[in-house]
Amino acid sequence: MGVVASAPAKIILFGEHFVVYGEPAIVVAIDKRAYVKIESRNDNNLHLRSTTLDLAGHFERDIFKIERGSAREARIKFEPIKRALEKILEKHGKQVGLDIEIDSSIPVGAGLGSSAAVVAASAAAAGALLDVKLLKEDIFRITYEAERIVHGNPSGVDPAISTFGGAILFQMDTGFKPLDVRADVPLVIGDTGVERSTRTQVEKVRITVERYPRIVENMMKTAREVVLRAMDALKENDLETLGALMNMNHALLYGIGVSDESLEWLTNAARKAGALGAKLTGAGGGGCMIALSKDEKLQQVLEAIQRAGGKPFIARKTDEGVRIERS
Ligand code: MEV
Repeated sequence: MGVVASAPAKIILFGEHFVVYGEPAIVVAIDKRAYVKIESRNDNNLHLRSTTLDLAGHFERDIFKIERGSAREARIKFEPIKRALEKILEKHGKQVGLDIEIDSSIPVGAGLGSSAAVVAASAAAAGALLDVKLLKEDIFRITYEAERIVHGNPSGVDPAISTFGGAILFQMDTGFKPLDVRADVPLVIGDTGVERSTRTQVEKVRITVERYPRIVENMMKTAREVVLRAMDALKENDLETLGALMNMNHALLYGIGVSDESLEWLTNAARKAGALGAKLTGAGGGGCMIALSKDEKLQQVLEAIQRAGGKPFIARKTDEGVRIERS
């Protein structure tokens, strides 16, 4: 039978990249989830299978053997899960073999935190299977460590939202604070279909910061002001202001070099179709964009994103973080 756990995807509403330099970000969990089923095995190996990505392989100690798909891709996708599971096995005190099956509806490599959601769900499922008591804080830490090493999500924003759900204000030195969001933030998410690596994008920003420190410092200050103003707008359900702030945030991200042609097409198409604001979300350089829209214009915006070459879907906020689905 095994244990099934799930965790949500996320969008960064404001503050990606600047968050790595200590500025605040607003992050919202959305109603797309990764599901992980874990069963124990009679040997000591970790067998992983992703139905979504059509990948399968297993670790015999540190040696990885591919069973289906590209070995390189499987290793990148499975390594953080392995690291997280090793932590749980360490807490369990005994080596146990595990069968891990991943089934996720979250677009991969698109800035929606699919990797962190899978890792958080894996940690929760393994904890429940092996009777290892885990607080959400523990799941966050384990996911954070596993993700940091492999994917370069230095701020920890993805693990935090996948674990806790809802909407949070996240800052590296003070951590996360749940936000009281009264606005029903109606969003269309557009996947450009261009896969990119968070690590490369973060590195690109680091070079810009080093090259133009004074200018970027001022952009960071502006990014912080945008987040602070957005917190009020979210409380007051002021969608017009939120939209304007999203456009400003996108301009700042464009300025530090993390937009690309595909994102520009989709954000412009969304604005032209009546979105109140649009921006890239996550690491950029491809991946996803988000458009804020009044309910009555959602369909129009969705169709415009599709015509511009993106894969759009409507997203709702979810308060449910990582959870056990079946034990
Ligand atoms: C990636 O989802 C968000 C970035 O800000 C990196 C990070 O916060 O670790 C680009």
